[in-house]
Amino acid sequence: MIFLVTGAAGFIGSNFVDYLLTDERNDIFAIDNLDDFYSSDIKKENCRLFQNHPRVHFEKLDINETEAFQRSVSRFLKCRNALSKRRIHIIHFAARPGVAQSFTTPDLTNKSNVIGTRSVLHIAKIIGASTFIFASSSSVYGKLGSVPFHEDLNLGEPMSPYAASKVEGEILCSSFAMENKNCSVRVLRFFTVYGNRQRPDMAITKFARTAISNQQIVLYNNGNNYRDFTHVNDIVEGIHLVIKGSIAGFGVFNIGSGGSIKLEKLANLVVNHLASKSKVIKQKAIKGDMIRTQADISKVKKLGYAPRIFIEKGVKTFLDEYLSARVIEAEN
Ligand SMILES: NC(=O)c1ccc[n+]([C@@H]2O[C@H](COP(=O)([O-])OP(=O)(O)OC[C@H]3O[C@@H](n4cnc5c(N)ncnc54)[C@H](O)[C@@H]3O)[C@@H](O)[C@H]2O)c1
Repeated sequence: MIFLVTGAAGFIGSNFVDYLLTDERNDIFAIDNLDDFYSSDIKKENCRLFQNHPRVHFEKLDINETEAFQRSVSRFLKCRNALSKRRIHIIHFAARPGVAQSFTTPDLTNKSNVIGTRSVLHIAKIIGASTFIFASSSSVYGKLGSVPFHEDLNLGEPMSPYAASKVEGEILCSSFAMENKNCSVRVLRFFTVYGNRQRPDMAITKFARTAISNQQIVLYNNGNNYRDFTHVNDIVEGIHLVIKGSIAGFGVFNIGSGGSIKLEKLANLVVNHLASKSKVIKQKAIKGDMIRTQADISKVKKLGYAPRIFIEKGVKTFLDEYLSARVIEAEN
């Protein structure tokens, strides 16, 4: 199969490319603009392992450079002799993530997440993709009061420009599906993802960094936020199952763990596991933060999805790997 992966140098994208490479029938066209949301050195390191792989063609490219994007994809498909023979799946991860940052740079969020998604959908139409996967987010559930969130719920008011950009992306995908009836368009709502190569701006990475240096860990909303944390290996497996089980048309799936943990408990877990002297301090809620997320995963379970790594165990493995990576870094 042929896979076009956008945002391939990012946290989830690079894990997904690694997963695809475990099946030798897969050829991958991977792009990323290595944007400055966080260090491009981390992104370069993320794709270092697959960049020179014979079954991967990686380009530093912005999804909004539609013409260049189209030219590169066509060249790739021609050279793989793929246009008429092999099914093409597009997995669209590229986006500017981050709820808090989207308040300060809403135009950048809109450009990558909304205009960029339109551009990738345009490419999907031109090349006749059989599958289009859109990486959406639990943030689209917005101000809904009660959990777990089921896909059929009417969405609550988006609480940030980031959440709004994901709602818009979903709408673009749904209207694309109405016009392109042979394509299987799937919106996947990921719930807070963690694991190997996790973004530096995310809670667990921040807690780990602060705990290692025995500094104060800040918890917003007095530590009373709850999150459904999903291990990246479960996310990758979920995406694979959705692609495998997909038929033409539009569909929305939550991919989460199905559980939820209080951030205060998570912070204590990190502090204890690292035997840190950090104190946890509580502050008021910040703009855009949802109080609680928890996925109803009954729909994706019907495709065979069963999360394997739960937060209490997953976070310890993450911390052990994080610590050993720092030791290796210090030694070099
Ligand atoms: N990590 C999570 O907890 C989480 C939760 C819900 C949804 N998501 C979504 O999953 C996707 C991947 O998230 P992630 O955590 O891996 O983030 P990430 O920032 O690590 O990866 C996104 C990648 O997209 C690239 N990118 C951004 N704008 C681009 C553009 N215009 N052209 C080309 N590449 C561009 C970035 O350079 C980055 O490498 C995103 O769409 C995100 O919104 C993530």
